[in-house]
Amino acid sequence: MQIRSAFAAVSAACLMTTSAAVAGPEAEVLHWWTSGGEAKSVAVLQKEFADNGGTWTDMPVAGGGGDAAMTALRARVLSGNAPTAVQLKGPAIQEWYEEGVLADISAVAEAEGWADVLPASIAGHMKCEGTWCAAPVNVHRVDWIWANADVLAANGIALPTTWDEFNAAADKLMAAGITPLAHGGQAWQDATVFEAVALGVLGADGFHKAFVELDKDTLTSDAMIATFDQMRKMRGYVDANFPGRDWNLATAMVMNGEAAFQIMGDWAKGEFMAAGKVPGKDFLCISTPGEGYLYNVDSFAMFDVKGDDKAAGQALLAKLIVGKNFQKVFNLNKGSIPARTDVALDEFDSCAHLSSEDMAASNAGGSLLPSYAHGMALRGAQSGAITDVVTAHFNSDMSSADAVKMLAEAVANSM
Ligand code: BGC
Repeated sequence: MQIRSAFAAVSAACLMTTSAAVAGPEAEVLHWWTSGGEAKSVAVLQKEFADNGGTWTDMPVAGGGGDAAMTALRARVLSGNAPTAVQLKGPAIQEWYEEGVLADISAVAEAEGWADVLPASIAGHMKCEGTWCAAPVNVHRVDWIWANADVLAANGIALPTTWDEFNAAADKLMAAGITPLAHGGQAWQDATVFEAVALGVLGADGFHKAFVELDKDTLTSDAMIATFDQMRKMRGYVDANFPGRDWNLATAMVMNGEAAFQIMGDWAKGEFMAAGKVPGKDFLCISTPGEGYLYNVDSFAMFDVKGDDKAAGQALLAKLIVGKNFQKVFNLNKGSIPARTDVALDEFDSCAHLSSEDMAASNAGGSLLPSYAHGMALRGAQSGAITDVVTAHFNSDMSSADAVKMLAEAVANSM
């Protein structure tokens, strides 16, 4: 509604030939894109916004995975001063909608024909009771291994295709004095590794049962115990300085050969690219062992704020975000692939092509799954409960059997 009237106001302003001053589109944008690759990516949006007459007020909140950004958002909304546009994704979009604080961007979505260019699975995440309430930026894949090509070659190691192969490679690297797994001990990073391991060990159906349906039998199954067993092994493959390390510093360890592998979504590729590294030559990518694809779609939701300039800013941002050119240029920098299905991938690298092909195959085969660790599968209370257990296990000598018991209890208590 507000956006429709803003469109009218902007069009009316364009027709004016007098010198009456009309405030242009404005947006205060809350996001957590602060690493090298991320900053380059968000700069693409800032430039397009400015080129179209917009005034951007940046509100970056550092902290991978967005936990700190979400805390900052809550504080702003509670104080009655919501930002204009917010990087928000998965069920958190609908949670905020239910609090009655999101703007309806259906007018832009309809004018731009989003329904025709977005896959139904992605469009579904952007809708709130039938209206469009968020604009998708990309598709990040979470279940990746990034590797230093020279380190693997020097140690006679091929990219692992099973967890046993991963463990054998890691043991060999340890013996050679190289950190096998670059990792940062932050809860969301533990969760990122955990869900990749879980996908491989539980399989796609098991992953869906555990992290989408929260099925108790699966949460307490032998396969979940085996998942924690593999996490215990992973704990042995990280260096002593892992606590608190940011994810991009872990990526840098792979870049400079201090570590061989990192398990991280393809925003890590954005870091390699920003540092001038070449995929297939300097660094390698392969999906983590197992079938399936864990997707993580970045998107922006517009908050209900007063002022035609802000409403015009929201309409302009939403339009640009899903625009064809932006989806190409942004994602070339970000490491992800476009959310739109009609953007040619000619300029994208081999990892992006693999992502796109695997996404299509997983979609056809029923193994395209939302990332729980990146807030695509569950509401905050449930995903938080799972991550607490994953982190508690990773940072202690808790047995897998105890972890699984704790997991089932935590999930039950979070409902
Ligand atoms: C976001 C990415 C971001 C990453 C690290 C993920 O949850 O989807 O856009 O680069 O966190 O901060």
